[in-house]
Amino acid sequence: MPKARLSDLPADALRGATVLVRLDLNVPLDDGVVSDDTRIDATLPTLRHLSESGARVVVTSHLGRPEGADPSFSLEPVAAVLARKLGRAIAFVPETVGDRATAAIAALGEGDILLLENTRFHDEETANDPDFAAALAEGMDLFVQDAFGTVHRAHASTEGAARVLRKRGCPVVAGYLLEEELRWLGDALESPEQPFVAILGGAKISGKIDVVSALLPRVDKLLIGGAMANTFWLAQGHDVGTSLVEPDRVDVAREVMAAAGDRLVLPVDARVATALDGSATPRVTRPEEIADDEAIGDIGPETEALYASLIAGARTVVWNGPAGIFEQPAFAEGTLAIARAIASATDAGAVTILGGGDSARAAVQAGVTDRLTHVSTGGGASLSFLAGEALPGVEVLSEADALRTDAHRAEVGA
Ligand code: 3PG
Repeated sequence: MPKARLSDLPADALRGATVLVRLDLNVPLDDGVVSDDTRIDATLPTLRHLSESGARVVVTSHLGRPEGADPSFSLEPVAAVLARKLGRAIAFVPETVGDRATAAIAALGEGDILLLENTRFHDEETANDPDFAAALAEGMDLFVQDAFGTVHRAHASTEGAARVLRKRGCPVVAGYLLEEELRWLGDALESPEQPFVAILGGAKISGKIDVVSALLPRVDKLLIGGAMANTFWLAQGHDVGTSLVEPDRVDVAREVMAAAGDRLVLPVDARVATALDGSATPRVTRPEEIADDEAIGDIGPETEALYASLIAGARTVVWNGPAGIFEQPAFAEGTLAIARAIASATDAGAVTILGGGDSARAAVQAGVTDRLTHVSTGGGASLSFLAGEALPGVEVLSEADALRTDAHRAEVGA
């Protein structure tokens, strides 16, 4: 059953309505200054539409994982960035629920936008406390979910308040960003053009084993990179020196390899060094020749070429997680080579989707972001989606049909 979207709402449904919008404004702050505004940019279409349609817009988000109301995690700097990007005033109130927040909401005129303080200043947020959720929903006519990066969390502002409003008969709809994310990721999983190649990197198998298991039946090739590959090599009986490994996942790795056959592709060489902090010069080696005091920092050049050729033949590519410690110049090449190969595949007509903050940063470093089909704003959320897990912030949305009035049905021909 399709979920309701902002684009399903009749044109007149927003004027004068007080709309609670959950965004993922969890952006990095450097001394109180937003250092990466990608996630902010991604929220603008929904905010513009709501404001231009005459809604009274109340925005909530978390930022970081503060312990209580720590002012260094305030959303105030984000309000200033939003104001600059939208070219209009954005009100900010240093409270999430309470008298000041209520007064600020009551003062909103049609088209005005208010940002409430970080929802995680209250423990009730992550506990999905019903009273806190009800307080957030108080006085709202509609809920717009556009926090794709946080829809895998059943928190008060992502799920609880939406549920309260839905029970009250208010529309609970996906914003434009969420709609876009679900479309690209959903199409990739449900009807990918073949060959479908996925690349999974990152440090740990444990965080990604569900994704590996969910993707394997769907892909033509699953390429493994990052320290995750070390555990697979260990499972093959290689001695990986001082490399990061998860010995307790060796059995799982063996099961995955046995079930996957040649759909699972592991690195054939690696860049290793005695120190991974950039102080040692890496050498290229095969898995059977790693010395006891060496650790793997990146895939090697033969692996880069192998992965690039598989990516070049793909019509759909999903990438999540770097191939090595790309923040260190000595171990960046494998990840950058993958980013470039994916960009070339896009140029050749493939649909390419990238998820996760590290991979997104690597794409920026490789200068290829604009050459990818879709760069997801979700890290954990995109992994949960790829693993086929239910996303509480999506589950809670109204069913599309529940929103349609007879007049609107006639208008959209539904
Ligand atoms: C993210 O950055 O992945 C999201 O904002 C979710 O943040 P969280 O992992 O702290 O819930």
